[in-house]
Amino acid sequence: MNERMKRRAWALVPDPLKDTVLGYAIRRGVGRFKDSRRMFDYDRRLLPNPYLAELESASPDLETAVKLTGLSIGYPAWNLLYYCLLCSLPPQEAVVVETGTNQGFSTIVMAQALKDAGASAAVRTIDIDPEIVPRARHNVEKAGLSDYVEFHVGDSLGFLTELAGEQDHVDFAFLDGNHEFEHVMKEFEAIHPRVAACGGKVYFDNTLSGGVAEALRHIRAQYDGALVEFSNCSWSPPGNAIWQSQPRATEGDALS
Ligand SMILES: C[S@@+](CC[C@H](N)C(=O)[O-])C[C@H]1O[C@@H](n2cnc3c(N)ncnc32)[C@H](O)[C@@H]1O
Repeated sequence: MNERMKRRAWALVPDPLKDTVLGYAIRRGVGRFKDSRRMFDYDRRLLPNPYLAELESASPDLETAVKLTGLSIGYPAWNLLYYCLLCSLPPQEAVVVETGTNQGFSTIVMAQALKDAGASAAVRTIDIDPEIVPRARHNVEKAGLSDYVEFHVGDSLGFLTELAGEQDHVDFAFLDGNHEFEHVMKEFEAIHPRVAACGGKVYFDNTLSGGVAEALRHIRAQYDGALVEFSNCSWSPPGNAIWQSQPRATEGDALS
């Protein structure tokens, strides 16, 4: 099923079914969630935000988790994302972006990293679905992180193209909107020069198969930089990965 067909099928799903694993299966292609590597048997105090921990404490399985935290990457990917961002932030003027806000839970994790790093910056996040963004805004507010998030509604490609026109660097981008090969590649290409300009990082979800896996093979073959893959997290399909551009050489790096 291509993205257009999936959207049509999704429009036919009754509202009460939308926040269920069945609803998600209809949206993403039936059966693909069975290979989930999202974990539920862990101490919720490990999570970086108390509101996230509260909702996740009430989630013993994927079915409940989808009701409470939407289509989020889940644990341990939340913490992987949190520490990757926390350990990547520049001392000032951080530019951090996310495509695919959904209900705002990866946004919360990223905003918490900005707060914990003492950054005076906001996660610029976008979702194409105008109905979901108010829910994300509400969740981010409940998490106490509204000052660290800037919400946008629309297609990620126009948004990233505009961002690349305004900013001379992008430190960190989490691409988690449309996971088709062409879309992921267009997102990557839109921000690549700005990420490369500062030795920044691009974080991917759903990496083990499908469009994102294909995009990663292409990036590995066509672009400089390093790609690190984390198979044991997330779901449908599982896996996260981080691409980092070749850090700019400084005078100190010159061989004597
Ligand atoms: C898997 S969910 C994101 C989950 C979220 N990042 C998290 O981990 O909590 C994907 C989201 O991407 C949005 N989306 C799909 N295509 C998009 C596009 N072209 N531009 C922006 N958002 C898009 C969908 O509406 C959906 O809410």
